[in-house]
Amino acid sequence: MALQAFRDELASTAAALAAPGTGLLAADESTGTIGKRFDAIGLENNEENRRAYRTLLATSEGLSDHISGVILFEETLFQNSTTEAGGAPLVDLFKAQGIVPGIKVDQGVEPLAGGLSGETCCTGLKGLAERAARYYERGARFAKWRAVLQISSNGSPSELSVRENAWGLARYARTVQEQGLVPIVEPEILMDGDHDVTTTAAVQEWVLRTTYEALAVNGVFLEGSLLKPSMTCAGAACPQQPSAEEVGEFTVRTLMRTVPSAVPAILFLSGGLSEEDASLCLNAINQVAGPSAAPWHLGFSYGRALQHSCLKHWAGRDLKAGQAALLARARANGAASLGAYIPGSEPSDDSSLFVANYSY
Ligand code: 13P
Repeated sequence: MALQAFRDELASTAAALAAPGTGLLAADESTGTIGKRFDAIGLENNEENRRAYRTLLATSEGLSDHISGVILFEETLFQNSTTEAGGAPLVDLFKAQGIVPGIKVDQGVEPLAGGLSGETCCTGLKGLAERAARYYERGARFAKWRAVLQISSNGSPSELSVRENAWGLARYARTVQEQGLVPIVEPEILMDGDHDVTTTAAVQEWVLRTTYEALAVNGVFLEGSLLKPSMTCAGAACPQQPSAEEVGEFTVRTLMRTVPSAVPAILFLSGGLSEEDASLCLNAINQVAGPSAAPWHLGFSYGRALQHSCLKHWAGRDLKAGQAALLARARANGAASLGAYIPGSEPSDDSSLFVANYSY
């Protein structure tokens, strides 16, 4: 079906995901990545444990107060909940709560031929239309594709990598819109490196400008799309770390210069910030933007910063403790997306969640 037939539906899905005071739960860790999380709590990475963990997420009562959508990995989209929870498809449990299901559709990154050392491009375009149609049929209404860029003293990102990753995002976005899925456009700039925040800001402006040019060439319907950027932070090894307020100022300036106002929402990734820092920075972004100055909803699409305490408290055993920790971070970030978060008002874990050269 042509994109035209889905325009109204795409715009209304994107608007639902941009509801004030909400954001997304990124629970789309690949089987390998969830294995690293399970390792940290001493749990075997098998299908039953993954089912149990995703059932915990889907049955957290009240989650939809602050979570408008959930990004799933393919296994979860087609998986049933545990028998204790009734065995219904997990996707139906999220839907019953009023949480829109989404699906990660990229198939990871590979080295970029012709690029600088460490540069990658994202794979998964082949057969994407057919996969997207199958995911829509199963209940997914939005998709995610994560392109990864890195700032490095070897000159990265190169023009080749900025252009190629922007083009991949645009081809993906157009393809899934034609199947009825709202694309989350995610050009992540990793926190790896010792560059300062002004360097990140300059690179991010370039990356976002190039991405929106590519989206325009591909005829992507912006009202039915969402942006998932990193916040404009310094590299993790930079000795001059900006305050949350400075991150707020740089981030809003970068986005104001580059993101069209037709885009309904900008939902940040947490990128290795601690749980509390992810809330503080989002709060600062919303305070800088003010309730009416920015054209978009400024929310969150956090993986690590929503799930770290949850996993730790659950530890494969304690469902209620895991759910309480998840709900606490959902409340914190819901408030932060309104610029109304009171620092430290919800329990969190202070550990840095930064992982060098992170893959999802
Ligand atoms: P983090 O919030 O853990 O960075 O992950 C979000 C995500 O979905 C990255 O693609």
